[in-house]
Amino acid sequence: MLNIILCGAPGSGKGTQSEFIVANYGLEHLSTGDLLRHEIASQSPLGQKVDSIISKGQLVPDDIMMELIGNYIDNLPATAKGVIFDGFPRTVNQAEQLDLLLEHKHQEAHVIDLFVEEDELIERLLNRGKTSGRADDNLETIQKRLEVFHQQTKPVCAYYSEKGKYHAVEGMGTIEDISHRINDIIAAL
Ligand code: AP5
Ligand code: MG
Repeated sequence: MLNIILCGAPGSGKGTQSEFIVANYGLEHLSTGDLLRHEIASQSPLGQKVDSIISKGQLVPDDIMMELIGNYIDNLPATAKGVIFDGFPRTVNQAEQLDLLLEHKHQEAHVIDLFVEEDELIERLLNRGKTSGRADDNLETIQKRLEVFHQQTKPVCAYYSEKGKYHAVEGMGTIEDISHRINDIIAAL
């Protein structure tokens, strides 16, 4: 099994690069942001609970996220070759709990961290916001998401780095060039 955690700030290209990894390696793609937006669109009880949290650019509580992830991992098809975790874990607590879930299944995950300059992140997200319909693609919420990323998600990188499972990637440049850089890392795993 090949489990990859795509880490990186909002707008760093996690969703974009996940599509290439799925195409090249046939992994399952779990975007927690997409999953939560699906819950909001269907107006499920969970969706109603998380709607205003996401609109404000804050993180959904860890207990809610872990229940979602636990269910997802338990329901993976037996034929799954591995998972791309896109946007999860986002706190050290989530990372510790994910590791326990994976260890239980004799598996592990490696982090690929996409580095993009802040001006570029904001430009990409404002640009996407023209058509995305996402409640969080506006300047005020983008800035909040970046602040939350630095405070709560960056420490996840140090956590995996100490375990020797951390790989930084230059996330500036063309989508194709970045995809090649990611492929080089995955090929070496
Ligand atoms: P989530 O949906 O994960 O949003 P995010 O992390 O803010 O990231 P984005 O989806 O905005 O960006 P991306 O890195 O996927 O970039 P993309 O490929 O789209 O999470 C949303 C919210 O859900 C969170 O704020 C939180 O509230 C909640 N949530 C989710 N997971 C959670 C968790 N684990 N715990 C708690 N809460 C959670 O690219 C961006 C744009 O740039 C696109 O338009 C793309 O076309 C363009 N682009 C991509 N690459 C390039 C390039 N190389 N050059 C130019 N443009 C590019
Ligand atoms: Mg995304």
